[in-house]
Amino acid sequence: KPAAYQEPYRPQFHFSPKENWMNDPNGLMYENGTYHLFFQQNPTAPVAGNIHWGHATSTDLVHWQQQPTALAPDSLGLIFSGSAVLDAQNTSGLGQPGRPAMVALYTSHSEKKEKLGRQDVENQSLAYSLDHGQTWTKYAQNPVLKNQGSRDFRDPKVNWYAPGKKWLMALSAHDHIEFYSSKNLLAWTKESDFGRTLGGHGGVWECPDLIQVPDEQGKLHDVLIVNMNPGGPNGGSATQYFVGSFDGKTFRATQPGTHWLDYGPDNYAGVTWTNLPAGSPVTLIGWMSNWNYGQQVPTNPWRSAMTVPRTLRLRSAAGQLELASQPIAGLAKLYDQPVTLSNVAVNGRYDLGKQLKTRTGRFRLNFTVPKAQTWSVVLGNDRDERLTIGYDHAKKEYYLDRSKSGNIAFAPADKGFAQVARAPRLATGPTQEITLLVDAASVELFADGGLTCMTGIFFPSEPMTELVALQAESALTLPRVELAGMKSI
Ligand code: FRU
Repeated sequence: KPAAYQEPYRPQFHFSPKENWMNDPNGLMYENGTYHLFFQQNPTAPVAGNIHWGHATSTDLVHWQQQPTALAPDSLGLIFSGSAVLDAQNTSGLGQPGRPAMVALYTSHSEKKEKLGRQDVENQSLAYSLDHGQTWTKYAQNPVLKNQGSRDFRDPKVNWYAPGKKWLMALSAHDHIEFYSSKNLLAWTKESDFGRTLGGHGGVWECPDLIQVPDEQGKLHDVLIVNMNPGGPNGGSATQYFVGSFDGKTFRATQPGTHWLDYGPDNYAGVTWTNLPAGSPVTLIGWMSNWNYGQQVPTNPWRSAMTVPRTLRLRSAAGQLELASQPIAGLAKLYDQPVTLSNVAVNGRYDLGKQLKTRTGRFRLNFTVPKAQTWSVVLGNDRDERLTIGYDHAKKEYYLDRSKSGNIAFAPADKGFAQVARAPRLATGPTQEITLLVDAASVELFADGGLTCMTGIFFPSEPMTELVALQAESALTLPRVELAGMKSI
């Protein structure tokens, strides 16, 4: 049995639980020097079910320490997704002098009621911690917000709404988001509904997050993140968002259409950290998998990892404001000294692999394409397995092709794992700035400064260390190529 964290496919710079099942990130908050990452966890099996809140902590959002499981199921049900805030003003009265309460709001999902065919399966509950998230007490009068009639009624994301001096909860209710407010985190009042006829509706709306994101001029805009499963742009689970304005009661989208945070198949349930130190950028993390096949991926003894944390800002592209994601700056401490190449002439195939000092299958590749044209990056191994990430200029699409990337048979054939995933290029300028992060069994593409992102997992029978080739359809000179190995966390 390989040592923990040395197993095949084990990510080395992404958070993954030591063993068993993980899905959504939950309760993302910063407090007293520590970033908390709670997560949907089955502590007893590598499949969904028996859902608890697992816990990990970090002082830099890069290195993570898994902690004891934080919240276990009770008579109200499983502990589904939710959020956490610091009740610094003790609005809830749950804090003690010098010991502010960390307050978690989560969904109690009752399997008992489910079996009885009842509608009120999902209700919102509260737990609090007076020791920086180490131990938790469930509120005696749970649930704090009862089901209002929708079978899907879950994933409370709470933020302090300063202009109204109140807490604000975004909650998903099947095909729309409901907003609730509270003065004390305990009693909740309905404010409004959003989105029944807007955006993507190919699946159930889950895990919302109402945030403020700066544009290029630094002006803040209200953005509502809405995760949805299935119905993503490449099948299954995906994250959409609405740019708009929230007036203290109602959210209104100000841009038409459906907007995706990440077009790849494997970035889901992403939400942001609360209570970050002043001046921190908006920071999101997602579950790097997909409900289409997440429970079948061939990893053992754990299942699933998180994406790298990403900072968000708004950039204009073709007259609309779009969310652009970038890996957090703090990740830089993991990059080995990069190899920087200038004026790389790619005519046919250019083997980059020999430039990497260590062949670990973990690296960051940055390059600039001076004028948008067809190109691809191919990762491979000597089993002739291939993973291709590229840009198709005729279609103005980025793509991710894992059809020959190794084990594709684990996924049910109709779940699209082996299909080529495609994403529109949203940027209109000629130059393409590309970043790829590759970690054993995942690739994250940040194209055009993160305007188009694609995240995908793959399972080669041997690590993809043998080849890192750049291909171009016609002669192409890349002014800058930068390749850096990545350290393990
Ligand atoms: C999203 C989700 C949430 C739910 C949780 C259950 O992936 O379905 O809506 O709370 O997972 O684990």
